[in-house]
Amino acid sequence: MKPFFITTAIDYTNAPPHIGHAYEKILADVLARYQRQRGREVFFLTGVDQHGQKVQQSAEREGIPPQEFADRVSEKFLTLWKTLGISYDAWAATTAPLHKAAVQRILQDLKERDWLYKATYSGHYSVRQEQFLTDKERGPDGEFGPEWGEVVLLNEENWYFRLSKCSEWLHGFLESRKDFVTPDFRQTELKNAATKITGDLCISRPKSRLEWGIELPFDSSFVTYVWFDALINYISFAGYGVEMDEGQVAFKTLWPADHHVIGKDILIPAHGVYWPCMLHAMGFSDEQMPHLLVHGFWSLRGEKVSKSTGNVVDPAALVETYGVTALRYYLMRDAVMGRDADFSEERLILRHNTELGNGLGNLVNRTLSMTHRYRDGSPKQVSLPADLAAHLAADAESVKTFVVQMDATQIHAGIETMVDLVNRANALVDSAAPWKLAKDPEHADRLDAVLSTLILSARTAATLLLPVAPEAATEILRQIALPALEFGGLAISALPEGYRCGEPKPVFPRLEMLVEGIGDSAT
Ligand code: MSP
Repeated sequence: MKPFFITTAIDYTNAPPHIGHAYEKILADVLARYQRQRGREVFFLTGVDQHGQKVQQSAEREGIPPQEFADRVSEKFLTLWKTLGISYDAWAATTAPLHKAAVQRILQDLKERDWLYKATYSGHYSVRQEQFLTDKERGPDGEFGPEWGEVVLLNEENWYFRLSKCSEWLHGFLESRKDFVTPDFRQTELKNAATKITGDLCISRPKSRLEWGIELPFDSSFVTYVWFDALINYISFAGYGVEMDEGQVAFKTLWPADHHVIGKDILIPAHGVYWPCMLHAMGFSDEQMPHLLVHGFWSLRGEKVSKSTGNVVDPAALVETYGVTALRYYLMRDAVMGRDADFSEERLILRHNTELGNGLGNLVNRTLSMTHRYRDGSPKQVSLPADLAAHLAADAESVKTFVVQMDATQIHAGIETMVDLVNRANALVDSAAPWKLAKDPEHADRLDAVLSTLILSARTAATLLLPVAPEAATEILRQIALPALEFGGLAISALPEGYRCGEPKPVFPRLEMLVEGIGDSAT
């Protein structure tokens, strides 16, 4: 089977990472870990978008070379991904020579096959947004609004990609590949928007205006438009058009990407229109088009997370205060895939303390403590009575449900399945009351059966938690002294011969709210 190939957007290096960047990388990481856990080979690509006007301007402001500036910010992303346990396999930094060479080869090839042409365009240009404006951007009063900043009349020669030549193909493609974009409502949105996108795509910037980019191989007074450069990372870092070293995974075995994980802001037009059209022009067939997994946006107290409003939550500070488990769990649990969510430290703490601490943590702690107290860590092998066999059968059903949900990228739903399983197991502790059974030697077999069932349930819960909270789940499995359950394996209703559980230690220490939230104190 082809390796599971997952990518994320590559992050701009003009500003440090915030909660939105962290969310996207954790989301992709959870899917990657889940696939590995299912036994699939995974290639997980993420990285940084280092070119463009904003990096050049920020570097100029600091009086340092753009590469130095981009590297410094990239380092912050790298450090954060380590802190958050992002298990990527390859790093896409767009100033890498391999990437530059791929972009230039692709440009040269497109030019030779007449997909590119040079033309002069005159029009209104927004200096702040670095783009030409059309009448569509005018407000009801006929003027360009303040969001465009200074607007000047510009007469500029540039290189264009014949995007308009693809419009019929794209329309047909979006009709036939109904699953190009997940969730469905985003594909509908894209289909509606795509019909309104007309004209060709300007893919160059004159060096007089912007130097920090990949030079056009056939016209040295221009650099490549940053989006045209950035999108190509998905294939350049997967080995497109490159001779393979021994042991390297070849591009043709990786492509197409199973998921490009991106936020809703970069679907239209970049990933939904430009990217498939670029691939189409390069000669990729409809079957070789990737799949786009589009997530929603995190806000803070209902407002956009933005550096200019000082409304930025620093993920590293959250990990420092609450730990990586609480942060990963909260972000995956509270955002319904594809929908927006509002960040709240209160909810992060609540989710952690109730579902992990009082839920799974309590289950593991009670189960292991009682197993030590009543059975010295080793319950006797007994056949299970009907009610406990039914309990484990329900757990096996939960695993099946979880697999379906995770295959469909519904991580929040998968977590809910784990929470239900834990609640059922904690209810069993209360109804079976091992402490009562322990008082009566006549109930000795039932006590062994109940403890074994609880241990197996706790193991299943930890298995389902592994992709989301690998550290905590691994620690729980260590205490239970059993390996993770294999997905798709047979439902297991007995502990192994000679089993003995480990000592329980708290895995989810209770979190308290800081007087001043991280979101309030961050700059
Ligand atoms: N560099 C481009 C992507 C090029 S991909 C070929 C870019 N960078 S970004 O740094 O602005 O955003 C990186 C990713 O973070 C995007 O997928 C974007 O949607 C996502 N997010 C940015 N802010 C976000 C939130 N507030 N919430 C969730 N995700 C957010 O776009």
